[in-house]
Amino acid sequence: MALLIKNIRELLLAGEDMGGKACGRAMAQLPAVRDGFLFIRDGSIDDYGTMQEMDPGYARIPGLETIDAADKMVLPAWCDSHTHLVFPESREAEYIDKIRGLSYEDIAKRGGGILNSSRKMHQAGEEELFRDAMERLHEIMSYGTGAVEIKSGYGLNTEDEMKMLRVIRRLKENSPLSIRSTFLGAHAIPMEYKKDPRAYVDLIIAEMIPRVAAEGLADFIDVFCDRGFFSAEDTDRILNAGLKHGLRPKIHANELDYSGGIQVGVKYDALSVDHLEYTGREEIDALLGSQTMPTLLPGASFFLGMPYAPARKMIDAGLPVALASDFNPGSSPSGNMQLILSMGSILYRMLPEEALYAVTLNGAYAMDLHERLGTISRGKKANVLITKRIPTYSYLPYAYGSNKIETVILNGRIETTNK
Ligand code: NIG
Ligand code: FE
Repeated sequence: MALLIKNIRELLLAGEDMGGKACGRAMAQLPAVRDGFLFIRDGSIDDYGTMQEMDPGYARIPGLETIDAADKMVLPAWCDSHTHLVFPESREAEYIDKIRGLSYEDIAKRGGGILNSSRKMHQAGEEELFRDAMERLHEIMSYGTGAVEIKSGYGLNTEDEMKMLRVIRRLKENSPLSIRSTFLGAHAIPMEYKKDPRAYVDLIIAEMIPRVAAEGLADFIDVFCDRGFFSAEDTDRILNAGLKHGLRPKIHANELDYSGGIQVGVKYDALSVDHLEYTGREEIDALLGSQTMPTLLPGASFFLGMPYAPARKMIDAGLPVALASDFNPGSSPSGNMQLILSMGSILYRMLPEEALYAVTLNGAYAMDLHERLGTISRGKKANVLITKRIPTYSYLPYAYGSNKIETVILNGRIETTNK
């Protein structure tokens, strides 16, 4: 199967040897080919360049499909490295409580929040969870997401955590998106363990991790390391146990306080530490020199009315930054990565170039998929977006709220066309 996209106004993030991630000042340098072509064969990016460089022999390839992208941009599909998009029910009743003045922590303390979803998860069948999550995948794909990480964490007991992870496995098998799964048994302390949280940590270590690993159900492990949830010490124990079973960490840290989560994540060579609203000099210093991707979730700060992570400080200090949706029913009920791109620019003051890196290559890195995804490079998987007619790529974060993507190509095949 061969697909040729020609007359592209600008082909973004096109280049070889771009490294696994973009850091600091390099995030403002976005490689682009003007008046370009992109040639896709057998699901991979075969070649690209300017129209003048295009091989005239393409026209003779039998069955070649050609798309004219005049006045349009072409770029890598979004890589959303942090979601909880397998969930049983929406939670708009809590949203109204929040409007009335309760905080995320107040709601959690009275048994709402994650524990509310956990009770519903226990009742939910795998079939309905799968069907609803497939619908969500379809929706985020229509906005341009081509790769997504999905966490468990609404089970909070061995059987229900495994149920969620089996649903994610089925999504991997049935969706054109590239999917990574993360075991998040340490998402909240279940009611019955409130008096003895350590016993729940013991259960995660002794029973959940070995079973999840034995069945190969997770690529990564996560802990919600924050005030009122899991301490840095709990996190240390859980990550240590996870690593023994080959599970690399990607953790929730410093959303509610300076929790020590960033430091413990770096200690265990986490692939990413996520949220990071409470990040100061010490945390930035810990991240500098590590291989850990700081991942920011502006949708959650926006939705909960909480402080924004200091993205500008991080990038100015030389760190890379990834942006993800955190799609979940409690703190960010949207997986629209175009909105996240805009929030990166509007709320974090990231330049369009920086925000574009954050939702492509750096997001791919945070899922350990940077060798296959996140840039337009020869040999990478052809997960590619064609925009509608837009004047510049800065229009993508600028015109927030509308769908600027016309065509979504995943694995070299056209999956969605928004006309
Ligand atoms: O990333 N902060 C912890 N976990 C999720 C929220 C999950 C929920 O409220 O259902 C988050 O924001
Ligand atoms: Fe999250």
